[in-house]
Amino acid sequence: MWICCLCMVTYGLENSTRCGKILLRLGLLIHLEGPLFGLLSFIWITTIRMVRMILMPGYYVRMLSTRGQSACNTNGSKVLHQRLNVEHPSSSWFCQWLVGVTDGDGTFSISKQGNSWNLVFKIAQSSYNLRLLFYIKQSLGVGRVNIEKSSDMASFRIRDRKQLAEVIFPIFDTFPLLTTKQFYYDRLKKAYTILEDETLSKIERDQRIEDLLLTKPTADYVSPVWTDVTLPMSFEDVKRIVTNPWLVGFIEAEGSFYLVVKEKGLRIVHAFGLTQKLDWLVLEGIRIRLGIATKVRKNKLGFNGLDTTNSRAIDNLGGFFNGKMKGMKAVEFKIWLRSQKYKGNFSKLESIQAFLRNLRRKRAFTSLWDRLKDNRR
Ligand SMILES: *[C@@H]1O[C@H](CO)[C@@H](O)[C@H](O)[C@H]1NC(C)=O
Ligand SMILES: *[C@@H]1O[C@H](CO)[C@@H](O)[C@H](O)[C@H]1NC(C)=O
Repeated sequence: MWICCLCMVTYGLENSTRCGKILLRLGLLIHLEGPLFGLLSFIWITTIRMVRMILMPGYYVRMLSTRGQSACNTNGSKVLHQRLNVEHPSSSWFCQWLVGVTDGDGTFSISKQGNSWNLVFKIAQSSYNLRLLFYIKQSLGVGRVNIEKSSDMASFRIRDRKQLAEVIFPIFDTFPLLTTKQFYYDRLKKAYTILEDETLSKIERDQRIEDLLLTKPTADYVSPVWTDVTLPMSFEDVKRIVTNPWLVGFIEAEGSFYLVVKEKGLRIVHAFGLTQKLDWLVLEGIRIRLGIATKVRKNKLGFNGLDTTNSRAIDNLGGFFNGKMKGMKAVEFKIWLRSQKYKGNFSKLESIQAFLRNLRRKRAFTSLWDRLKDNRR
């Protein structure tokens, strides 16, 4: 608790997601290296920050304004370029990453509220991963982060139609979604066109949107990005479609890095898994992209699953994702990756497995949330 207070004082309340990150790192250090080491690192980190704050007051301002600097080369919207503060015009990393996250946990919804239609782009996460949502908000410069106290879920949303058109459409028009969510994106855009069409009467508009809402993806729907691809997929095709930033974003949303007991008390191994209800093709693409030999299988519920404990595949994954993720999955991943040095040490790995499970159960304090008023605007 006192660490938390100190941390808040040092960073200011607005920065408490960042604070959480540091606390987690410390918790991790204490867990892995012992309490004394943790305490020493904490003193060290705090001293450095204090010194920086005193000597370079501009540092924090700069740090805030340079976070999330990545920009999209969408060729579409000038507003977007200005908004994203384009420093590296060719960098589209953030946007492709966002498309990956959206393919994982995003929705495009159309709903009626009273007399008017709402179009909403939303990314939902457990409130444990507020960090990811704030990263998106900061990078896009629009939208709101909300937390639902009842369900422990948090979300990033844009429902302003103008912002959707200026910020969201250029991204998804440049980098199409790979999953069935492309269908729902297209549908949202059609609804947008209908709502913006001044020549239609209100009744006509309502009718057209009602009709639109009745459309559903067919059972064999695949995103148009896959249309030229023949099976079995070639690595070249996969590389063109499943880009690195997309994959990082998608895995942040959907992937899990975990430890699994193979023989009780004897053998515990590192594993990676991914499950999708639809979109077998996407999992197959990821399988090839990451060099995983295990086939994509249907589980009992009829979902497609990609799981591996193969040590070569696990090594590949470690190299691929290290240092690239933005949300809490980055923290989980790091613990998972570092614990590989304890291969063969059952009790140590078992305690890390428990630690990871515990970590995933963490939720944002609602009291903390109430004080983050700034972010609700
Ligand atoms: C943007 O437009 C330029 C010229 O119009 C073109 O050369 C470039 O490839 C385009 N970039 C993207 C990402 O579409
Ligand atoms: C497992 O790791 C712990 C903690 O690092 C260590 O104390 C223990 O000796 C190790 N056991 C084996 C069998 O290597």
